Amino acid sequence: MNDIRTSICERVSAYVNTKGANLSVDEALAFLETPSDSKLGDLALPCFKLSKLLRARPDGIASELKGEFDGFEGLERAEAVGGYLNFFFGSAKYLTDLDALIKDEYPILDEYGKGKIIVLDFSSPNIAKRFHLGHLGTTVIGNAVRNIYKACGYKTVALNYLGDWGTQNGKQIVAFKKWSSRERLESEGIKELERIYVMFGKEAENDPSLNDQARAAFRELENGNEEYLEIWRLFKDISMREYTQTYKRLGIEFDVWDGESLYTDKMPAIVQELRDKELLKIDDGASIVDLSEWNMPPALILKRDGSTLYPTRDIAAANYRYNTYKFDKCAYVTSAGQSLHFAQWFKVTEMMGKDWSKNLVHIPYGTMSFGGEKLASRTGNIILLNDVFDEAVAKARAIIEEKNVANGNKEEISEAVGIGAVVFSALANGRIKDTNFTWEGTLSFEGNTGPYVQYTYARAASVLRRGEMKGGYESYSPESAETELIRKLSEYAETVIRSAEEYEPSIVSRFALNVCTLFNQFYHNCRILGSGGETEQFRLALTAATRNILGRCLDLLGIKRTEEI
Ligand code: ARG
Repeated sequence: MNDIRTSICERVSAYVNTKGANLSVDEALAFLETPSDSKLGDLALPCFKLSKLLRARPDGIASELKGEFDGFEGLERAEAVGGYLNFFFGSAKYLTDLDALIKDEYPILDEYGKGKIIVLDFSSPNIAKRFHLGHLGTTVIGNAVRNIYKACGYKTVALNYLGDWGTQNGKQIVAFKKWSSRERLESEGIKELERIYVMFGKEAENDPSLNDQARAAFRELENGNEEYLEIWRLFKDISMREYTQTYKRLGIEFDVWDGESLYTDKMPAIVQELRDKELLKIDDGASIVDLSEWNMPPALILKRDGSTLYPTRDIAAANYRYNTYKFDKCAYVTSAGQSLHFAQWFKVTEMMGKDWSKNLVHIPYGTMSFGGEKLASRTGNIILLNDVFDEAVAKARAIIEEKNVANGNKEEISEAVGIGAVVFSALANGRIKDTNFTWEGTLSFEGNTGPYVQYTYARAASVLRRGEMKGGYESYSPESAETELIRKLSEYAETVIRSAEEYEPSIVSRFALNVCTLFNQFYHNCRILGSGGETEQFRLALTAATRNILGRCLDLLGIKRTEEI
């Protein structure tokens, strides 16, 4: 696909050389741009980049260089506009690009991450609590980033760092022994765990000794008290049952479930290493790493009573992950509220001289709220994720019934559209921005939404079911609605790479929306079925290419493909 770029640059380089200056083909390639507006051509050379070399004005260079491209193979024409030389491809280039898109193979993507490994820590809920809106971001952004890296040829390890080890578990054990039973837990599930946890909070206000009991219970747990461990395992099982259901609904699978508890026996060695490297300071009885040189508050390693903390565990976990996976990148998806925590302990690993430290990445995201209501996770005012999904599915179903659009299994389609709509909304904007969901903006079939992408995908799939693709359009000359669509589709691989480099799924969702708009323009302007001959074959091929690309985008975002809506 790059040959025309190269041949253009060879000509540019030769031209510069005849002027007694020097420009390599690679240097020229780096200058080439893709105009954002296709009216300005398919490629552009900003001639001001050559001004110094040639000691001439950009517009003069552009118009003289234009003469070099009369009758140039593969180009329809070149135009000099305001210091730019714009190149317009001939039909043949579009036809070859389309052939590549039909094959649905992207060698640059396979090459990009070949042999590399990324560990992705995402979702990672604290056990004994149901998923709420606050978990949506880490779960779907993490999953999308993982899919994007996989598409880029990386080997990915999706890791759920379950929050299953901390004083809250001590509280739960005390509460369980006082106010619940195995039977109740089995029948009520995670709701019962939430009930007794809230109850503990209330009771502890009047009776602070409960907190001491909880700390003691956690210490027992750490010391391997079998009775407590058994209760704790039960909590974990019950929680996992609930989480797996939600993950299943979202189509998310983890490769590894290494919760915080796994690292208890790996922390002493890390603490010792910090001590040996003289990085620990005692501050009011606690052990800390001083980070004032980097304008950060100290990282807390050990509490006064010697117990470990969140950063201690993260350092031990990263060290273990490096030893286990030899990762090229290890990324953590959490709300921006944890940015300081990550910056601090990343710095500590650097001070420890771990050379994998530079490969640690924090992927923060903004807050997600619903209809202007902020999430209040500690009060009773929680928006449960399953409730959001259920409501989205019910609303999708109502729209589908009303419009009478679905031909297939309405229940399945509503589930895919409802959940896909919520997921798309969470991935539609730059991740660091705060997202405020409205049902309007999430579910409309016309707006910048998941349903719009799924609907366009289904439209392409339906055309292909009705037409017969036979190929054979070598002498077809595409119209502008068609070349614009091909141009956009051809950006797929570079778009995926950019979204990987920026850990930014919204680059993919925005691209998918652009493809939809251009496909729908093409669909309305150009008759596909029944247009006959080369025209029909070309248009079917273009529809198939669109279906491939949109399908891939949906896969990357973690949204179900809908063959029929
Ligand atoms: N369990 C934590 C929470 O719910 C998120 C864990 C993120 N991952 C990590 N390695 N710290 O806030």
